[in-house]
Amino acid sequence: MNRGRIPSSRRLRFLILLASMVLLAVLAVLVTVRRGPAVPQPIAFNHLKHTSDLGLACDFCHKYVRTGAHAGLPDAGTCSMCHRAPQGDSAEAARVTELLEAGDPLRFNKLFRLPDHVFYTHRRHVGIAELECAICHGQIAETERPPARALVRVSMDSCMDCHRERGQTLDCNACHR
Ligand code: HEC
Ligand code: HEC
Ligand code: HEC
Ligand code: HEC
Ligand code: HEC
Repeated sequence: MNRGRIPSSRRLRFLILLASMVLLAVLAVLVTVRRGPAVPQPIAFNHLKHTSDLGLACDFCHKYVRTGAHAGLPDAGTCSMCHRAPQGDSAEAARVTELLEAGDPLRFNKLFRLPDHVFYTHRRHVGIAELECAICHGQIAETERPPARALVRVSMDSCMDCHRERGQTLDCNACHR
C-alpha cells in the first residue's frame, strides 16, 4: 500500500512545483509589461559628471525647459562642443568622439511620454513656478548612467496632489484639451 502512495505524492509535489514555476513566469511577464520596456540610449551618458563635476546647468542641454512645453534632449551638436576633441580617458568618452566623427546624430530617447490628451508645459512649472526638477523626475541629475526607466512615475494623481496642495487648477479641461 505504502509503495503505491509514494509515487503519487511525488507526482503531486512535482505538479505543485510546476504550477508555481508557471505562476512565477506569468508574474514576471506582467511586471515587465506594467513597467514598460527598458529605454535604450546611444551613449552611457553620465549626469553626475556633467552637472556636479563640470557644473553645467540643466538648460545647457535641456534648452527649452524654462520657455517651452518640452524641455528637449541634447544631440550631436551639443555634445560636439566639447567631445569633438577627446575628453578624459574613459572608454565611453572616447566612443562619443568616435561616433561624432562618424556623423552619428546621437539620438537620445525620452523615458516617458504623457498621453496626447494631456496638456503639460515646462514653462509654467519651471520658468514661472520655479519647481525643482527632482519633484517630477527624481534624482536623475545624480545618475552615472542612463536609467532604464523614469525614476518617478508621473500620473494624474501626482499632478492633482500638487495642484490641490498649492491651490492650482483641478479643472479637467485645463489638463485635457
Ligand atoms: C562643456 C563640455 C562638455 C559637454 C557639452 C559634454 N561633455 Fe561629456 N565630458 C566632458 C568632459 C570634460 C569629460 C571628462 C570628465 C572626466 O573624465 O573627468 C566628459 C565625459 C563624458 C563621458 C564619460 C563619462 C564617464 O563616466 O567617465 C561621457 C560618456 C560623455 N562625456 C558623454 C557626453 C554626451 C553624450 C554629451 C552630449 C549630450 C556630452 N558628454 C557633453 C565635457 C563635456
Ligand atoms: C551635458 C548635457 C546634459 C546636462 C547638463 C543635463 N542633462 Fe539631463 N539628459 C542628458 C541626456 C544625454 C539625457 C538622456 C540620457 C540619460 O537619461 O542619461 C538626459 C535625460 C534627462 C532626463 C530624462 C527625461 C525623460 O524623462 O526622458 C531628465 C529628467 C534630465 N535629463 C534632467 C536633467 C537635470 C535636472 C539636469 C540639471 C541638474 C540635467 N538633466 C542636465 C543630458 C544632459
Ligand atoms: C511638474 C512636473 C515637472 C517638473 C517640475 C519638471 N518636469 Fe520635466 N517632464 C515632466 C513631464 C510630465 C514630462 C513628459 C512630458 C511629455 O511627454 O509631454 C517631462 C519631460 C522632460 C524631459 C524629456 C524631454 C521632453 O522635453 O519631453 C526632460 C529632458 C525634462 N523633462 C527635464 C526637466 C528638467 C531639467 C527640469 C527642471 C529644470 C524638469 N524637467 C522639471 C514633468 C516635470
Ligand atoms: C509640484 C507641483 C506641481 C505638479 C506635480 C504639477 N503641477 Fe501643474 N502647476 C503647478 C503650479 C504651481 C502651477 C501654476 C504656475 C503658474 O503660476 O503659472 C501649475 C499650472 C498648471 C497648468 C496651467 C493651469 C491654468 O490655469 O491654465 C496646467 C495645465 C498644469 N499645471 C498641468 C499639470 C500637469 C498635466 C501635471 C502632471 C503631469 C502637473 N501640472 C503637475 C504645480 C504643479
Ligand atoms: C492637473 C492635471 C490634470 C487634471 C486637472 C485632470 N487630469 Fe486627467 N489625467 C492627467 C494626466 C497626467 C493623465 C495621464 C496619466 C497617465 O498616463 O498615467 C490623465 C489621465 C486621465 C484619464 C485616462 C485614464 C487614466 O487614468 O490614465 C482620464 C479618463 C482622465 N484623466 C479624466 C479626468 C477628469 C474627468 C478630470 C476632471 C475631474 C481630470 N482628468 C483632471 C492630468 C490631469
